[in-house]
Parts: sequence; C-alpha cells; structure tokens
Amino acid sequence: MSRKGAGNKYYTTVVANIREYRLPTILTPTFMIGEVIMEMVIPLLMASIIDDGVNKGDMNHILQVGGLMFIAAAAGLLFGLGGAYCGARASTGLAKNLRRAEFEHIQRFSFANIDHFGVSSLITRMTTDVANIQNSFQMVLRIGFRAPASLLIAMVMAFFISPRLTSIYLIAVVVLAIFLGFMMRRAAKYFREVFSRYDDLNESVQENITGIRVVKSFVREEYENDKFKKAVGTLYRSFIRAEKLVVTNMPVMMGSVYACILLLSWFGAKMITAGDLTTGGLMSLLAYCMTILMNLMMVSVLIVMFTMSEASITRIAEVLDEEITLTNPSQPDMVVPDGSIRFEHVSFSYNDTAEKPVLDDIDLEIASGETIGIIGGTGSSKSSLVNLIPRLYDATKGSVQVGGKDVKTYDLDTLRKEVAVVLQKNVLFSGTVLENLRWGNPDATEQECIAACRLACADEFIQNLPEGYQTHIEQGGTNVSGGQRQRLCIARALLKNPKVLILDDSTSAVDTATDAKIREAFREKIPDTTKLIIAQRISSVEHADRIIVMEEGRINGVGTHEELLASNEIYRDVYESQIKGSGDFDKQGR
Ligand SMILES: Nc1ncnc2c1ncn2[C@@H]1O[C@H](COP(=O)(O)OP(=O)(O)O)[C@@H](O)[C@H]1O
Ligand SMILES: [Mg+2]
Repeated sequence: MSRKGAGNKYYTTVVANIREYRLPTILTPTFMIGEVIMEMVIPLLMASIIDDGVNKGDMNHILQVGGLMFIAAAAGLLFGLGGAYCGARASTGLAKNLRRAEFEHIQRFSFANIDHFGVSSLITRMTTDVANIQNSFQMVLRIGFRAPASLLIAMVMAFFISPRLTSIYLIAVVVLAIFLGFMMRRAAKYFREVFSRYDDLNESVQENITGIRVVKSFVREEYENDKFKKAVGTLYRSFIRAEKLVVTNMPVMMGSVYACILLLSWFGAKMITAGDLTTGGLMSLLAYCMTILMNLMMVSVLIVMFTMSEASITRIAEVLDEEITLTNPSQPDMVVPDGSIRFEHVSFSYNDTAEKPVLDDIDLEIASGETIGIIGGTGSSKSSLVNLIPRLYDATKGSVQVGGKDVKTYDLDTLRKEVAVVLQKNVLFSGTVLENLRWGNPDATEQECIAACRLACADEFIQNLPEGYQTHIEQGGTNVSGGQRQRLCIARALLKNPKVLILDDSTSAVDTATDAKIREAFREKIPDTTKLIIAQRISSVEHADRIIVMEEGRINGVGTHEELLASNEIYRDVYESQIKGSGDFDKQGR
C-alpha cells in the first residue's frame, strides 16, 4: 500500500480540514495576544497612577488613568473570552471535519483496505486520535502564541529596567531550553508507544463487547478480564513512563525560578547600594522573572502536547492517505447483460506475503439461471471464492467474469446491485424491519418488501412481531433469532432483484423444512436468477443443478448430486455421515 510522504501529513490532517474555520483559527491567537498586551499595560497604568497621581496629589490624573485602566481590563476580558470562544470553535470544527473526512474515506474502503488497519484501529483513529488533535490544536491556538509573546514582552521590559540583570534570565532560559529539548525527545518516543497500546486496548474492548454473548455462553469472563487487565496495565505503564519524564520538568523549573530570584536579589541589592537600580525596579524585575518562567512552563506543556498529537496526526494521515485498492474503471459498463459467471484460471491471496494462495487456479463456468451448490470444510475458501464475484476482493491472477465481461469493467455499484450476496457474517442495522429491508432497494414499496419476505419465508414471523413490519430492530439485530435474521438478510438481498444471488451459509440457523421451502420458492419465483448456495448440509444443495466440492482452495469435484455420489469421495463421505447422524461437513468421517 503506497503512502504519501511524511511531509504531507500536516496538510491532509490539519490544513485541509481547518480551511472552513480559518477565521476563528486566525482570530484566536490574535485575541490571545491582545489579552497579553492588556495584561502588560495595566501595571504600567498602575505605576503612573501611583507616581504621577497619588504622589503628586493629582486627582484628575488618577481618574483619567483609572478610566483607561478600566477600559484596558474590560478589553483584556473581552479578548480572553473571544480567544476562548474562537479557539473552541476552530478546534471542534477541525475535529468534526477530520472525523467526517475519515468516515467518508472509510466508506470507500475495500475489504482489503479494512483488513489492512483492522476495525478496532480504525475506531481509535476516529475517536481517541481525533480528540487528541482537537485538544492540542486548541492549546496551540490559545497559548502557542500567547506564551512566547508574553515571554518576549517580559524579557524586553526586563531589559529596559536593567540590561545587566536580564542576562541572568538569558542564562536560565538557555539552560532550561536545552533540558526541555532533551527530555521531550525521549517523552515523544514513549507517547508514540502509548497510542499503539490504545489500539490493543480498543481491540480488547471491541472484541469483548461485540462478542459479549459468546463470552458469556463460554464462561470466558475470567479469561477476558485477565486479557483486559493486561492491556490496561501495559497502557498504564507506558503512560507512567512518559509522564515521569514530563514531571521532572517541575523541579527543574522551580529550581531555576528560585536560582534566578536569588541571583537577582544578590546582584540587585549590590546595584541598589551602588545607586544603579531603584527598589521599584528590582521589584518589577522579580515580577517579570515569575512571568518569564511561568510562560516557559507553558511552552514546555505545549511541546508535550505537540509530541502527543504528532503520533495521532500520523495515524489519522495514514487513514486519509490510504489508497483505495478497488476503484471504478474510468469508462464503466453500466449494464450487466445476464447472470452467467466465469472463473478463468483465478488465483487469490489476501496478502502478498502468504506462501500458499487461498484460491488456486480456479476454472469454472456457470450459466445464467443455474442453481449451484457449494460445499466444503471450514477454511476451504468457499467464501473467498464467491466474494470475488461482486468484487468484494479482486482476484490476484486470472479473470472473474459476470455476463461475459470481466467484473473489473463494470461500474461497482451496478455490479453489486446485480450480484447480491448474503454474507456469512450478516448484520442488520438499528431501525425498523422495513428500513432494514430497504437497504436492498430504497424505492421498494411495502408490497414489494412483503413479497420478498414471503420468498425468504420471513413474512410469517414478521407478522407475528409486536408491530409487524414497523418493529424496531436493535443494532446488530439482537432482538431477532439467528434464523430470523438470516431470512431477513435473504429478503433484503432479494429486493435488489439481482441477476446473481449468493447465499453464503445463509440458512444454517433455519430449520430444514423452512430451508426447503425457501429453495422451492426460489426455483418457482426467481428462475432466471443465477443462485450460488454455500451450505454445510447436503440437503441444502442436493437439488441444485450442479454442486461444487471445495477443498483447500481448489475445486475437488463438480457435478449433480448423483454424479458426485458416484465419483467424489469427499462428497460421498459427507453424505453418508449426514444421513446416518446429524453430522455436518466438519464432522465427516475421514
Ligand atoms: N480477511 C481475510 N484476511 C486474511 N485471510 C483470510 C481472510 N478471510 C479468510 N481468510 C483465510 O482464507 C482461507 C479461506 O477462508 P474462507 O474463504 O472464509 O473459507 P470458508 O468460507 O470455506 O470457511 C482461510 O485460511 C482463512 O483463514
Ligand atoms: Mg465461509
């Protein structure tokens, strides 16, 4: 997977997504600098009130400068408020655009792209990493300019009071800068580690929560608890290591502040006795000393934030720059003429590094309207075979054709509308039954939906649901049984009115009688649709026009039920084990 250079990552993540909010982005630091200036002006006005007003008994001057002071304070407050508001607007806007950009890009991902990251990592990259950038961005906008600005102003002020004493600050600043730079480089390494730990943690959470019912039924709670404890523990230790480094900041800073105060008092006192400095001047210098070191501290926090968000920026840029492995051809074919399928010397691997291909030199021809059964043990690549037909993955070698043309020549949406797959791991989404069905065809009338459900033997149980077709389905379809979910998914696929219908083990949770009824309905009502039925039960495929026996990524045999019984050893073994007991394919007597 090719990726753009690292220099582009700030562009793809920050610059491209903040454009919409450039006004608050520019206003925030402007307001913050305004606030600093007001803060610096007020002590000067105060000094003027005391020196020229109080000491000289000039009431007019006191009132005038007092008025100015009020205006400066109010302006400072408004600048502060404006900065906070604009900062929040810019950073939440950036987060919103980043999430949307990621989400939209992920929608275009092929299955291979999703495999590349893994679902849990994609979730972290859309949540934690974005939140991280949002916080850092707000910090940078608000103190990224403010802290260096007040640092500089305080230095200049101090310089005017006493250039000689200001050299003490300069030494302290240089020493601190070297220390900070050294420390932050090490902390950055630890922070990068922290974020990859977040992926592990999320994976653990996601796996457990989505599979919570399985965890419970296998009484694996203890094991899962241990696994989670380990993931949290590693995250904790990584964080502690990074933070330990960061907190050494504090004593070094404080040490410098007090060293500066000591030195200032020592040399300052000497200068006062020599008549080179006033007491007031020394007091101001000490105050500036605090300001300078406080802001140095802010700058160091900023650097920490920066190193932390650096890791997140990289991770998000990886998602946004991910090249989509499946794309539409430049002049796509918009019509699939018929439901014939052809595999020409097709080989397929999920990744380049695998030594053995998942599908090995498959040659196959299926006529339009044929019903094909596919049978084979778990991992024999049945799903991989059918996933190539709607281009969920692209063949590594050879060509897959539908309607006489390579699938790569078709418009993707057209192809996937004509080739409907009911995936092995099917899901329903939260919404009513009707809404779920209309994923198949948004324009389907209620009558058409009901007809599809009749075909899939789903109508009867839907009528019995509390609110019929308006019943709300929970996320993932947890409030319907496995068999009911499978039938809804079949109905959803039927609504596409496809030329090719693929059922990947889609009736495994449906009882045998209903399974037979569904097949019967298919034969009568959609005779022209090519049907590919992957199943574990011989009874689900025995009436098919032809049956394909898969083994280890190769076609072991093709023929009718009778032909295979006579010629194919695997098929015969499975058949015999299944009529004797309730054995399924994986329990064949071999
Ligand atoms: N997304 C994937 N990434 C990598 N390997 C996969 C993926 N899906 C399946 N495989 C591997 O491909 C092989 C065939 O799997 P599959 O087609 O799902 O078999 P079946 O459907 O017959 O059970 C298995 O070895 C499986 O581990
Ligand atoms: Mg499968």
